[in-house]
Amino acid sequence: MTDDTARGESNADEADDASTDGEPTFEAVTRAVLAEIEPDENERAILRATATTLLERAATAATDRSPGADVLQVGSSARDTWISGDRDIDIFVRFPPTIDRQTLETYGLEVGHETLPSGHEEYAEHPYVKGEYDGFDVDLVPCFRLEDATDIRSAVDRTPFHNWYLEERLDDDLVDDVRLAKQFLKGIGAYGSNLRTEGFSGYLTELLVVEYGGFRSFLEAAADWHPPVELDPEDHGQATFDDPLIVIDPTDPGRNVAAVCSAENVARVQHYARELLEAPNPGLFDAEPPEPLEVDALETHLERRDTTPVAIRFDAPDVVDDQLYPQLRKSLEGVRRGLDDRGFEVFRAESFADETGVLYLELAVTERPAIERHEGPPVHVRTHAEGFFDAYTNDDTVYGPFLDGDRYVVERERDYRSAIAFLESDDLFGVSLGAHVETALEERYDILVDDEVTALLEEFPRALARFYDPTP
Ligand code: UTP
Ligand code: MN
Repeated sequence: MTDDTARGESNADEADDASTDGEPTFEAVTRAVLAEIEPDENERAILRATATTLLERAATAATDRSPGADVLQVGSSARDTWISGDRDIDIFVRFPPTIDRQTLETYGLEVGHETLPSGHEEYAEHPYVKGEYDGFDVDLVPCFRLEDATDIRSAVDRTPFHNWYLEERLDDDLVDDVRLAKQFLKGIGAYGSNLRTEGFSGYLTELLVVEYGGFRSFLEAAADWHPPVELDPEDHGQATFDDPLIVIDPTDPGRNVAAVCSAENVARVQHYARELLEAPNPGLFDAEPPEPLEVDALETHLERRDTTPVAIRFDAPDVVDDQLYPQLRKSLEGVRRGLDDRGFEVFRAESFADETGVLYLELAVTERPAIERHEGPPVHVRTHAEGFFDAYTNDDTVYGPFLDGDRYVVERERDYRSAIAFLESDDLFGVSLGAHVETALEERYDILVDDEVTALLEEFPRALARFYDPTP
């Protein structure tokens, strides 16, 4: 409870809410945030009623087909770790392991459609139904009912075990701390295990809070992390993973729950954990998008930086975000390397997507001389050195071969003297591109250079605001 009247009433309250320099304390900030994000009794009752209806509908549809089936509410709505305003219900329909996988899929989809008449099918490891019901986003996922998590046949079979594991360990205080941790991760842009964000999933967040014993102790630990960080709550101690954050799934020794979490998001959490501990500020829990960037502000940046912005713009491929964003990243990296290999220095690069997709590269060097240096092997590596020398010695298009230290070198004509010429050429397709991005580029693409990039402000004013006012 933090209202202003309570704060002014006694010295004891004041000492609790503000530190000696008058800044709010960590406790005051988290209490205020919690008051915002904790669902009230009315909101809980609505969710409970909706979940009950859905569970009953699903149970009827499931047992009509397979008498041994049952249903289970999982995820944050089952564990009371959801945040006020979230409208997300996860329901699992468990079928006896005696039915075969094909039947499971068929029954699963039938039960899904019968429960969620307006739902549509999606594919994770196997198909499930997603749909809206009374304003809630509902996932209805079929799985096998297993005695032991080690018997799992597909990734979703594990989810009920996650639920039991956490239910056993979450008390009222930890539930509050999970909410705070989720909201903090949302605020800093690190929440979500989708492949656009590459951040922290709900389950991972809950495990971290349980493992460290609370939100604050999680932050304190994160502030001091030295990746790779490995947590193994159940001491499975077998598999090794090459990830910056490793949290061995308590219900599955072979899985890192933090596998999709990028090094950047680990660093982001470390940065903001330090900031929140040092200068508690409720603003860190709020993901405010930046103000859209205006044309003259962008022009001022371009002038001040005096780099060369280049945008490759194409129709965004019509694929799900989990495909699109990894492909954009791969393509951006490919183009960056393609430029770099040809001597054009990329200063900073980002990709954006909406109706169009954009690979945005800020170049520090766009023009190069007519010739380039081509290094051969050291002379003492006899076979290779002789091969290099023989290949170029009668070639009058090159300077050399001559010696630079112990190596042969030639200077030869460069393929592209200008970065733009390279980007406009077919050699652009020689770099590593995401499959659907490559197809989109083959269809057509525009190249915007220098001031022409202001045309992007219409579609990407906030992405460009972030680019030109970068923060951790
Ligand atoms: P959700 O993505 O809905 O997560 O998956 P959540 O825990 O309910 O968190 P929020 O509050 O909605 O963001 C539901 C459950 O499915 C399993 C987890 O057990 C999770 O709690 N799951 C989900 C996975 O095991 N892996 C995933 O990639 C996603
Ligand atoms: Mn959920």
